[in-house]
Amino acid sequence: MIIRPRRLRRNKIIRDLAAETRLSPSMLVYPLFVREGRGIVEDIPAMPGQKRYSPDTLPRALEEVRKAGVNSVLLFGIPEHKDERGSEAYNDDGVIQQALREGKRHFPDICFIADVCLCEYTSHGHCGLLKGEAVDNDPTLDLLARTALSQAQAGADMVAPSDMMDGRVAAIRAKLDGAGLEDTLIFSYAVKYASAFYGPFREAAGSAPSFGDRRGYQMDPRNVREGVREALLDIEEGADMIMVKPGLPYLDVLRAVKERSCVPVGAYCVSGEYSMIKAAAERGWLDERRVAAESAICLARGGADIIVSYFAPELARMMKEGEL
Ligand code: PBG
Repeated sequence: MIIRPRRLRRNKIIRDLAAETRLSPSMLVYPLFVREGRGIVEDIPAMPGQKRYSPDTLPRALEEVRKAGVNSVLLFGIPEHKDERGSEAYNDDGVIQQALREGKRHFPDICFIADVCLCEYTSHGHCGLLKGEAVDNDPTLDLLARTALSQAQAGADMVAPSDMMDGRVAAIRAKLDGAGLEDTLIFSYAVKYASAFYGPFREAAGSAPSFGDRRGYQMDPRNVREGVREALLDIEEGADMIMVKPGLPYLDVLRAVKERSCVPVGAYCVSGEYSMIKAAAERGWLDERRVAAESAICLARGGADIIVSYFAPELARMMKEGEL
């Protein structure tokens, strides 16, 4: 035998030298939940290890995240008051706006990404205005754009629309530019599937739809080319970066989107992926750290330039320790 692939696997130094995929903490984004109130740090039962913070306790969490080596966070707001029009989403004094101002004041150099969607803010739990039982696309655009503007004015470096309305990236770009905020980036959840893997998130954010589901606006898990179409549309409308979501079950989509786009591509390892690993690890069935690391490696190998993950601080620590 002349060729022995195992030679490249002989020890860690050789394996690291030969690795085709390399990860760094700079590619990580950590999602955080902020709810209205004061002095709150509460557990999220469906997502062990993740917490809800109030705007005043958020800086403590950010301190930890920063210490772990993660410089970008994605914030979700959970308001006290919900109504049909999701008006707290675009209230300049709403929970997400307070969180952004507070966060930015303490950590001006953290990159704050604000999730733009109405489902956490509407009484019916859908991502836009209702017309009968369906979400009415065009009138929703203005509310999404107002939400993004209000978040950008409160200090968001990036806005991340996750609603899946047609035309929302263009509407948001126009609104931001009209207010002189042409430097605010748009990180679009361009390729977002109607996925049951979001289950734990909906408990965390109290955003489950009160009737029906999101298949009328989020994508059908059976489709790949449609994902490429969504990605290209959002780029044309002005998205600076795009995302594929969920993560691991959609690696083929991630690869297809990556090959066809020329902007940074993110992958969101969603709540269900996190909770599955946690649940199996709690029972001693999986090694949590190794599975979390492998998930991140697979997303990077699949084409992710950016990884959004509830494991982000842990992953960053592993990278620093040379374990990942
Ligand atoms: C808001 C939104 C959701 C997630 C991110 N933004 C929930 C949904 O679409 O139902 C899911 C994130 C996760 O599961 O970790 N629309």
